[in-house]
Amino acid sequence: MGLSPLQSIHMTEKDSIKVVDKVNDMQTLSNSVRKGGRIISFVPTMGALHEGHISLIRKAKEKGEFLIVSIFVNPTQFGLNEDYKKYSRDLEGDLKKIKEIGVDVVFLPDVNEIYPDGFETYVEVEELQKPLCGQFRPGHFKGVATIVLKLFNIVKPDIAIFGEKDYQQLIIIQKMVRDLHLEIEIIGLPIIREDDGLALSSRNAYLSKKERKHAKALSEALREITKSFDQGHNEVKDLIQRGRDILNKSLIYDIDYLEIRNGRTLESKEEAQSGDLVAVAAKVGNARLIDNMKL
Ligand code: PAJ
Repeated sequence: MGLSPLQSIHMTEKDSIKVVDKVNDMQTLSNSVRKGGRIISFVPTMGALHEGHISLIRKAKEKGEFLIVSIFVNPTQFGLNEDYKKYSRDLEGDLKKIKEIGVDVVFLPDVNEIYPDGFETYVEVEELQKPLCGQFRPGHFKGVATIVLKLFNIVKPDIAIFGEKDYQQLIIIQKMVRDLHLEIEIIGLPIIREDDGLALSSRNAYLSKKERKHAKALSEALREITKSFDQGHNEVKDLIQRGRDILNKSLIYDIDYLEIRNGRTLESKEEAQSGDLVAVAAKVGNARLIDNMKL
């Protein structure tokens, strides 16, 4: 008798967590889970997991019947002068956190299998990728859309969960799913913050003690803008100036952008409306941090 497809899958157990690291094995496993009628939920990550990631994983567990988390630091979404090499990696810590929640499989692919020599096919969401982070990180969203589509084709989820922390990424993926007729429900979840308002991020680890104190100004600036809007101010120029003042007071001058845009299309505007997105990206020390809020 031949092996059933599942028996031939190479699945290692790391601290009793099931880990799959080959594309083919992941596909075989997902095919069999789907055939059994179970709903696959999926959370893609680049590791260095914190409570932001954990909130997505918990929701995914609630929403699906078979939960897959991927950990893959995707080189194609980092620019040449960005932090791919020094991006936080903590596989052991990640697996420990994942074990506490209980997921069915961790997918841990190898970069050489994901991007073999000669790889040349990419996906781009042409308009949504242009503003905000797209302006300052050329090629970033092309790398994100491509890896997410690849992961979707490997993991074959019914449901995939992303954070609003990376708001532009979230709506780019929603658009890709719509434009390419993917049968995947995309769920976006709110930003998890520290007590002082700083959005959790793997990159917060780069901050010195002093920079960490200054970094809270990002969320303070956004809150000031939403508060002023609630009080009746709607001229974008004024609102942005209020936010910039708060950043500058905390010695944050290296601001890639602080903008108010349409929350669905990301079009820029002169008069703010309820539902608009306020988004910021700024360098605090060596860390490029992003944050956003809705008006
Ligand atoms: P990563 O930065 O590891 O984030 C994985 C997921 O966690 C993303 O959906 C992100 O929006 C979410 N997340 C991060 N910080 C959060 C916070 N403070 N609150 C809520 N959610 C948060 O985003 C990526 O990886 C990659 O681009 C990826 C989609 C995996 C493709 O490589």
